[in-house]
Amino acid sequence: MTTVATTITQATEDATAVTYAARVEHVSKSFPAPGAPGGRQLVLDDITLDVAPGEFVTLLGASGCGKSTLLNLVAGLDLPSAGSIRTDGRPALMFQEHALFPWLTAGRNIELALRLRGVARPDRRPEAERLLELVRLKGAYGKRVHELSGGMRQRVALARALAQDSRLLLMDEPFAALDAITRDVLHDELTRVWQETGLSVLFVTHNVREAVKLAQRVVLLSSRPGRIAREWTVGIPQPRRIEDGAVAELSAEITEELREEIRRHGRH
Ligand SMILES: Nc1ncnc2c1ncn2[C@@H]1O[C@H](COP(=O)(O)OP(=O)(O)O)[C@@H](O)[C@H]1O
Ligand SMILES: [Mg+2]
Repeated sequence: MTTVATTITQATEDATAVTYAARVEHVSKSFPAPGAPGGRQLVLDDITLDVAPGEFVTLLGASGCGKSTLLNLVAGLDLPSAGSIRTDGRPALMFQEHALFPWLTAGRNIELALRLRGVARPDRRPEAERLLELVRLKGAYGKRVHELSGGMRQRVALARALAQDSRLLLMDEPFAALDAITRDVLHDELTRVWQETGLSVLFVTHNVREAVKLAQRVVLLSSRPGRIAREWTVGIPQPRRIEDGAVAELSAEITEELREEIRRHGRH
């Protein structure tokens, strides 16, 4: 594959001039192929995708199809082999692993993000308290990470991501390790936070119902290489329940398409 000029731009222009939260244009990514000296494995092939300001997009695909690779490129953690990626400012990230500092309290973890953002010392504590309240963890300020349940840790991780005051939140299977009921509650919280803040969200998952429950738009990635196979606009009004008929119906349709993708590419 030829490598063309690659640009990663974190737009700093006047906000009114920016019509996207993220703009991915003709992005491909290859890695050295394991066991084939000099060979390359094409993981993402010609991905073009916009996330509009305030939009909630889920990126859905089988495991190994390149979802995390794409999210890392949007995050600027890695460079595409071809194509360009632009984001409206620096995005905030949230992963399956909460990545909180265990020696700091919940509040201090959030304050650290505030400090890195340049928030003045006297303003940090009230802002951390406000963010904890936003994720419904009022009173958890002084708790250490080991005192918190898995769901509570992800709430703190969300509050810390929000502390960065980014316009785009990138989430990589953030609730995948949680039990179904906790996950369901956190879906509702995330939807509420998204509605209250007006953030743009790009959320990666392999869980079809999760994708449908959360998104305004579901983008399905194919496997080997990852390409955009299809996308669906989800018009079901929020709040949605995972067991709603309309959610189940669309999930069934998307699952069928995903099965086709997996059948085409095997080895899953
Ligand atoms: N840094 C890397 N070096 C080599 N191969 C990688 C690297 N990152 C990901 N891959 C490969 O890219 C493919 C897609 O991985 P990934 O994006 O993690 O998939 P997903 O998140 O959809 O499960 C896998 O085959 C993986 O082995
Ligand atoms: Mg992944």
